[in-house]
Amino acid sequence: MDVFARMESEVRGYCRGWPTVFTTAQGSHITDENGRTYLDFFAGAGTLNYGHNNPKLKQRLLDYLAGDNIVHSLDMYTAAKRDFLVRFEETVLGPRGLDYKVQFPGPAGNHSVEAALKLARKYTGRETVVSFTNAFHGMTLGALAVTGNSMKRTGAGVPLGHGVAMPYDNYLDGRTPDFLLFDTMLDDSGSGLDKPAAVIVETVQGEGGINVATAEWLRGLADLCRRHDMLLIVDDVQMGCGRTGSFFSFEEAGITPDIVCLSKSLSGYGLPFAVTLFRRGLDVWEPGEHNGTFRGFNPAFVTAAGALEEYWADGALEQQTRAKGELVERGLNEIALLNAGAVDSVRGRGLAWGLVMNDPELAPRVCAEAFQRGLLMETSGPEGEVVKLLPPLTTSEADLSRGLEIIAESVGAARPAVTV
Ligand SMILES: Cc1ncc(COP(=O)(O)O)c(C=O)c1O
Repeated sequence: MDVFARMESEVRGYCRGWPTVFTTAQGSHITDENGRTYLDFFAGAGTLNYGHNNPKLKQRLLDYLAGDNIVHSLDMYTAAKRDFLVRFEETVLGPRGLDYKVQFPGPAGNHSVEAALKLARKYTGRETVVSFTNAFHGMTLGALAVTGNSMKRTGAGVPLGHGVAMPYDNYLDGRTPDFLLFDTMLDDSGSGLDKPAAVIVETVQGEGGINVATAEWLRGLADLCRRHDMLLIVDDVQMGCGRTGSFFSFEEAGITPDIVCLSKSLSGYGLPFAVTLFRRGLDVWEPGEHNGTFRGFNPAFVTAAGALEEYWADGALEQQTRAKGELVERGLNEIALLNAGAVDSVRGRGLAWGLVMNDPELAPRVCAEAFQRGLLMETSGPEGEVVKLLPPLTTSEADLSRGLEIIAESVGAARPAVTV
């Protein structure tokens, strides 16, 4: 273990909560070098929706590599890229009536966000992008400028410009009608708010603490964007690819964003991969105007196409996710009821859930107790006050129930440490 502390930067984070060396993983389980196996409700922060080393995708990947097929190709045409595009059109975009162009902006979620922000600014000729309280869009400068968390923002070391934050759904506890401030400021030429190029939003804020926007609020936002001629960007990096049930998290609200960011579970296998999708008419890029070395990681095209074929050809996964989500919700509500002094509330959608603790110190303790008992979970929210559950969508009901038992025990064990 010494080598990590000696050589790896102090910036390392997750490993501090799980001080062991992991070696292998399968499905919803991850094993360390001591042979101890943990149930994984972290799932690569939403990257492993189909579990670790999914066997259906692994075989495709192994076959692809064994055949000396192209691995790296910048944005050259490859058979793997073509297969992905065809599959994406047939399985995802076509059935949903979405006529989006696909940009490969680089492998990470922040690459997708940066491309979205740049394109919105180029298309509209405006600079300001509106984001929401407790938003998280990534760690590059453009994405940080539309991210809420003050610690992360300070890390930029330079002023973060051209972003304006507005209240997310229920930020003001229902004390004002939705969009009262935003709409009023847009209408008032004296408000000081420059006409925005775009609005960027997560339908469920993952890092922000599993804050769930209602379908009504999202429709209101889409309407506001239309009325004020602002582009609507949905950042579906964490909540897309089925995390909330449907492939895109905005489907339930019946809205059609102008631009969509996807990454994390898109490759289906934990391989780095991102896309930025946008209405055909927004494609004002000049060739090469936005580029990057790792935009064509062909193994990710292969597993991504495989994931679409295996999991999105019908509605089974979506239905299962909703049913499993209800199971998790029931379990968490029971835990909240039994620990009313320690737990503030339960919130979530699909298979993204948060157990909101009254005392921010309690959430990391619950996660530490869970780790001792063989379960990985992370915290989220502005104070880290939310115990966050993102199990792979393929987790069995038995494993979900086992995880909930561990959470119940962990909350019980963590409580006295701060409440006595
Ligand atoms: C909603 C959202 N957008 C963007 C990002 C940034 O993705 P990446 O860490 O791959 O740059 C994240 C990462 O957690 C995210 O949750």
